[in-house]
Amino acid sequence: MRIGVIGAGQLGRMLALAGYPLALQFRFLDASEDSPGGQVGPIITGAFDDPASLERLAAAVDLVTYEFENVPVRALQQVATTRPCLPPVEALRVSQDRLLEKQLFGDLGIPTPPFRAVDSLGGLRTAVAEIGLPCVLKTRRLGYDGKGQRYLRKASDVQPAWQALGAAPLILEGFIAFEREVSIVGARSTRGEVRAYPLVENMHRDGILRVSRAPLRHASLQKAAERHLRRVLDHFDYAGILTIEFFVRRGRLIANEMAPRVHNSGHWTIEGAATSQFENHLRAILGLPLGDTRPVGHCAMVNFIGALPPRDKVLAIPGAHYHDYGKAPRPGRKIGHCTLVAATATERERLLRRLLRLLPR
Ligand SMILES: Nc1ncnc2c1ncn2[C@@H]1O[C@H](COP(=O)(O)OP(=O)(O)O)[C@@H](O)[C@H]1O
Ligand SMILES: [Mg+2]
Repeated sequence: MRIGVIGAGQLGRMLALAGYPLALQFRFLDASEDSPGGQVGPIITGAFDDPASLERLAAAVDLVTYEFENVPVRALQQVATTRPCLPPVEALRVSQDRLLEKQLFGDLGIPTPPFRAVDSLGGLRTAVAEIGLPCVLKTRRLGYDGKGQRYLRKASDVQPAWQALGAAPLILEGFIAFEREVSIVGARSTRGEVRAYPLVENMHRDGILRVSRAPLRHASLQKAAERHLRRVLDHFDYAGILTIEFFVRRGRLIANEMAPRVHNSGHWTIEGAATSQFENHLRAILGLPLGDTRPVGHCAMVNFIGALPPRDKVLAIPGAHYHDYGKAPRPGRKIGHCTLVAATATERERLLRRLLRLLPR
């Protein structure tokens, strides 16, 4: 069985690594031939929106999936006429647009920050008046790692924010003074089986995920998150892994965004759960029984951003698992991560402090 993966980044690499024990083979499509996926499978080089490249990928595999969210929907629809393409293209279409995504959450009864579509400076002023300051202006499409966002704290921020982002369709959201950020990662298989991982607590800096801790043991939040997740999964007749990010304020979940793919906040599952998100994604799209999502310890996942810490020092930490994606270091670029698995939350925090001291500044 050959799986085609659109995108050969670290997510693609980890998918392939999880798939080899299941006798799966992988082909990637990526614009760059030295992307991480190339270390573990052939890359067909080409643009994500180039029909000829997509056709070459489809022709070489039995099933197509994606690890990259900005694949043009039309191109993927074309692929889907020749090969099964999962997760469903419709889930990708909605999650590419923050406005459609928030509207869907609303339709499914999942709380979101207040939001307005913004297409003009006048419209932005009206939206700011309605939502109130502080608020966050975001491009509807193509944002990631905090890119394409501006915080509006005072009236004089409105004009410069419009100057910076106004060339594209926008969404204005109320700023949520959250107590914490969490995410739920879960799988639904082509047979309709659903399994969710325990909630993860995520810490961002400059819009980029730095540290995830799992499991967040919180029975009522877990129950609410699973209910929201299941609604989204069932809505799309979904197959694969899907992630929803939430803010927690006054003990309640407020949905921020979703990703129709394996997710950075699920990396801890490779060593920290009975079955990894990557294996469960493959099981889900192949209609295999889903694996146990139980945690096997108390985990922390630390992203290596822009630079790697010394590998030998990290590996000297008990329960440390080092992942170097083999990417050229650049400021703000995720080039690796480490997962710590400990017997208790206290022990995890101790090991985490030790790991964080090793990060280059
Ligand atoms: N409405 C908001 N209120 C408060 N913080 C926000 C809001 N929107 C985004 N953020 C902060 O910025 C981070 C990145 O924004 P997000 O919408 O998740 O975009 P990205 O696609 O870049 O992950 C969030 O994880 C959160 O820390
Ligand atoms: Mg996010």
